[in-house]
Amino acid sequence: MNWKIRYATYCVAGLCVLGAYLLMRDVFSSCKQNNAAIWKNTSIPQLREQMVFDQTRDCSCQPKSIGPLENNTRQRQKKEYTEWERQESKMAEPMTLCPAMSPIQYLGSGITVEPLKYVRIVGIKLHPALQTSKELNITLRHSLGQLYVESSTITDYLQIEIHGNGSCQLSINTVNINDMNTALSHLAYHSTEHHIRQRDYIDVSIQDFDVAINILIQRHHVPRLYDPGPGNDINRKVTIIAKTFNRYGCVNKLISSINHFYPKMTILIADDSENKQKLNGINVKHFLMPFKEGYSAGKNLLVSQVRTKYFLWVDDDFVFTNYTILERFVEKLESTTAELDLVAGLISNMKGIAMERFSKNGWTDVEHVKGKSGGCLFRRKLPVTKVKEFPNCKLKDMVINFFMAKTEAVRNVGFDLVFERIAHREFFVDALGHLRIAQCDDVIIQHRPEEKDNDYKYYRLMQNQTKAQAGYAERILFKNNLQCFQPWSRIFHSFMKNETI
Ligand SMILES: *[C@@H]1O[C@H](CO)[C@@H](O)[C@H](O)[C@H]1NC(C)=O
Ligand SMILES: *[C@@H]1O[C@H](CO)[C@@H](O)[C@H](O)[C@H]1NC(C)=O
Ligand SMILES: *[C@@H]1O[C@H](CO)[C@@H](O)[C@H](O)[C@H]1NC(C)=O
Ligand SMILES: *[C@@H]1O[C@H](CO)[C@@H](O)[C@H](O)[C@H]1NC(C)=O
Ligand SMILES: *[C@@H]1O[C@H](CO)[C@@H](O)[C@H](O)[C@H]1NC(C)=O
Ligand SMILES: *[C@@H]1O[C@H](CO)[C@@H](O)[C@H](O)[C@H]1NC(C)=O
Repeated sequence: MNWKIRYATYCVAGLCVLGAYLLMRDVFSSCKQNNAAIWKNTSIPQLREQMVFDQTRDCSCQPKSIGPLENNTRQRQKKEYTEWERQESKMAEPMTLCPAMSPIQYLGSGITVEPLKYVRIVGIKLHPALQTSKELNITLRHSLGQLYVESSTITDYLQIEIHGNGSCQLSINTVNINDMNTALSHLAYHSTEHHIRQRDYIDVSIQDFDVAINILIQRHHVPRLYDPGPGNDINRKVTIIAKTFNRYGCVNKLISSINHFYPKMTILIADDSENKQKLNGINVKHFLMPFKEGYSAGKNLLVSQVRTKYFLWVDDDFVFTNYTILERFVEKLESTTAELDLVAGLISNMKGIAMERFSKNGWTDVEHVKGKSGGCLFRRKLPVTKVKEFPNCKLKDMVINFFMAKTEAVRNVGFDLVFERIAHREFFVDALGHLRIAQCDDVIIQHRPEEKDNDYKYYRLMQNQTKAQAGYAERILFKNNLQCFQPWSRIFHSFMKNETI
């Protein structure tokens, strides 16, 4: 009974019964105490269930989707997922049920302490109606710290008795409720275990009344700032990056177009072509990579080498035109109210016509349902949501290969190396919930497809490689803990016709 209550306060969506149960058993130590009284008839897991609007928790795979994994692989996945969820649940919002007609006033949340430091447990106060009661018990549920009453002289001038000062179970006895409140105003918590992010709970009980106060133990993050340089110079703020593979004609045209419009801007090119050639142009750093090292590896390399606050991602077969106005991207990323992390533009064709449908390339919005035995990922169609500050921008989950982003934000998501040669959509799946993304129609780049030889199709698009496609699909299923997903890329369409995993 108690176990369940405790796990519930920690758990998201009631999905982690076993993991959390064991965790709790480990964490509870000296402060184990009967807390059956807490939340008496109201179960937090039930409340969490009720909170969800769509009760169909288990996702169902659509007819045209890929998955699931075979049983042995699923077992391994389950183990990894349990650990992931345990970590994730630490970040979950704690649920604090505030009892009706409680004589105890308290802060339901908001008390934060640095590991190994002190914090005052402010806000606790008893109502004078409790005049007759004598004993108040305060217990630390996870014993990650100690409770104490700050002033040593307090017992000299108040009619109180304090037991367990400096432990994880403190009790205060008094006949005078005002003295009790004075003592409570000196109540403090000392974190004694070094966690960078963890929660502890303080259970306060007097007579038949119980409340739980949660404390967040959190190590401060140190800021990482980028110096934009003096004079609002865009060249100090933006680096252009591109990955190339066996297409020197294309990439040289791209560089020359950038040199024309932004002659002072730094360009980074990652190159895993078979027969390396020298690049033309100025301000270019050419990173040579092993043959076929891959798209994600190239992206990671490039992003790791960016020294500016923002970077612009372009494909090697794009060229800059008069409409490739990077200042417009910067303006959007710098808006403190729009809070965008990544903004894409549009791609125009050879005739210079930019249309949104050229610039879509598959999905734009993603639905992820967290099923009981693995999630489902499918395309969703949402009504267009415009960015309030920039009405020519629409919020999206996935965008094209022409975007400017905040370097730090993208580094935190990263490009997964399990996908060797293709990893565009996959990045956006990983970025769900981490990046705020929009696509705007006032920055346009031109697409000049050329040199589309069969080699390129073979390597980049995985044509005629059923086995590689199957491996790729399997990695997505495992990594994102999915039962199934709808194919978001051409790569899977041919594969789906013939194969099962
Ligand atoms: C809790 O539920 C039990 C039976 O389920 C009932 O007897 C009891 O009165 C309830 N207590 C409260 C405080 O609602
Ligand atoms: C995999 O597990 C499911 C359900 O647990 C079962 O129905 C199926 O027969 C298993 N498949 C194999 C190949 O063992
Ligand atoms: C409780 O312990 C703390 C820390 O050891 C001490 O500073 C404080 O004076 C003590 N309070 C009482 C009432 O003894
Ligand atoms: C406080 O704790 C003591 C010792 O554990 C116990 O005897 C007492 O009943 C508790 N009082 C309340 C109000 O819970
Ligand atoms: C681009 O700018 C150049 C130089 O200002 C101008 O000659 C040219 O006509 C412009 N092209 C378009 C499509 O606006
Ligand atoms: C690849 O597959 C296509 C049709 O699926 C076929 O026409 C082509 O010859 C294949 N290429 C190779 C190199 O096998």
